[in-house]
Amino acid sequence: MGFLYSQFFVTPKLPKRSFAGETIIVTGSNIGLGKEAARHIASLGVGKLILAVRSIQKGEEAKRDIVNTTKVDASTIEVWQLDLGSFESVKDFAKRASALPRIDVLLENAGIAAEKFQLMEGHESTVTVNVISTFLLAFLMVPKLKEVSKQYNIQPRLVIVSSEVHGYTDLPERKADKIFEELDVQSRADMGSRYPVSKLLEVLVVREIAPKLEGTGVIMNMLNPGLCHSGLSRDYTGLFSYFFEFMKFCIARRTDVGARTLVCSAAAGGESHGKYMHDGLVNEGEVSKFVKSEEGVKTRQRVWAELKDILNKIEPGVTGNL
Ligand SMILES: NC(=O)c1ccc[n+]([C@@H]2O[C@H](COP(=O)([O-])OP(=O)(O)OC[C@H]3O[C@@H](n4cnc5c(N)ncnc54)[C@H](OP(=O)(O)O)[C@@H]3O)[C@@H](O)[C@H]2O)c1
Repeated sequence: MGFLYSQFFVTPKLPKRSFAGETIIVTGSNIGLGKEAARHIASLGVGKLILAVRSIQKGEEAKRDIVNTTKVDASTIEVWQLDLGSFESVKDFAKRASALPRIDVLLENAGIAAEKFQLMEGHESTVTVNVISTFLLAFLMVPKLKEVSKQYNIQPRLVIVSSEVHGYTDLPERKADKIFEELDVQSRADMGSRYPVSKLLEVLVVREIAPKLEGTGVIMNMLNPGLCHSGLSRDYTGLFSYFFEFMKFCIARRTDVGARTLVCSAAAGGESHGKYMHDGLVNEGEVSKFVKSEEGVKTRQRVWAELKDILNKIEPGVTGNL
C-alpha cells in the first residue's frame, strides 16, 4: 500500500541546500539514478564531483551531458574507474579516494539485478556487486571519512542505495548453516529473489554497523528511491521482462525524480544515521517486518559475522576501521 501510494501520489523534493565546497563521490553514475543524482548535485552547486564508473568512456559521456545541461565548470567533475566486480579495483579506488583533501559524501549507488547466476570474485555476482564490494568500499573509506570529520568539523555522509524490495524476501538462505556460502551454490540459487535478497542484506548490514559508527562524526544512512525508470532491468528476459516493463510504464518515477531521494540522503543530517529513507525522508515504518522481527535481528547478526569474515579475507583487518 505504501509502495503504490508513493508511486502515484508522492513526488520527492530536492533539498534546497547547495554542496558548494564539498566533494561528492557517486558510484554507478554514468546512467540511471546515479547519473541523475550527479546532475542534481551539479545543479545545486558542488566543489568536486567524482563519477565513479565501470567504464571511463561511459563516464566521460555522462560528464559531458551533465556539464552541457547544468553549465557547471567541466573541471568540477572528474571520472574515476571503479568496478565493483573486482576487489582489486575497489581497493585501488579507495586508495586514490583516500588521498583526496576531503570527502563529504560517498554515495554508494552502483548495483545490478542479475537474472543469470554468474560468479564474480568467487561469489554470485549480485552479492559481490551489491553487498560485498559495496561494504568493502565503505569500510576502506571509513578512516578517511572519520579523518575529514575531525579535520573540517563536518559530518560526512556514507549513503547506501537500497530498495523497498528488501521487504519482498525473508532470506530463505538463512536456513543454511552459512548464508553467503548458500547464496553461492548455483544449483540451489533462486535468481528470481536474488536482487531483493541483496537489498535486504544491505538493510541488515547498515542496521548492524551504523551504531558502531556513532560518535565518529560519520553519518551512514540508506534509502529507497521507489520504482524508477533506469537501466536496472536491462538484462531481464522472457515474460517477466514484459510484465516489469509494463509495470514501469504504468507507475515508475522519472529517473530524475527518483534520483532526488539519493540527493536527500546525501544532504541528510544526524537524524538519518543508521536509518532508512523513503520518499527522501527518514521513515523507519517502511523497513520490513522481517528486518524488525526477532528472527530478523538474529539473521542480521549472522549476516554481519559472515560478511566480516569475507571482508577481512579480502583486506585483512578492514572491518576494524569502524
Ligand atoms: N530503478 C529502480 O527502480 C530502483 C529501485 C530501488 C533501488 N534501486 C537501486 O538504485 C541503484 C541504481 O540503479 P539504477 O536503477 O539507476 O540502475 P542502472 O541504470 O542500471 O544503473 C546502475 C549503475 O551501476 C553501475 N554498475 C553496475 N555494475 C557495476 C560494477 N560492477 N561496478 C561499478 N558500477 C557498476 C552501472 O554501470 P554500467 O552502466 O557500466 O553497467 C550503472 O552506472 C541500484 O543500487 C539499485 O539497486 C533502483
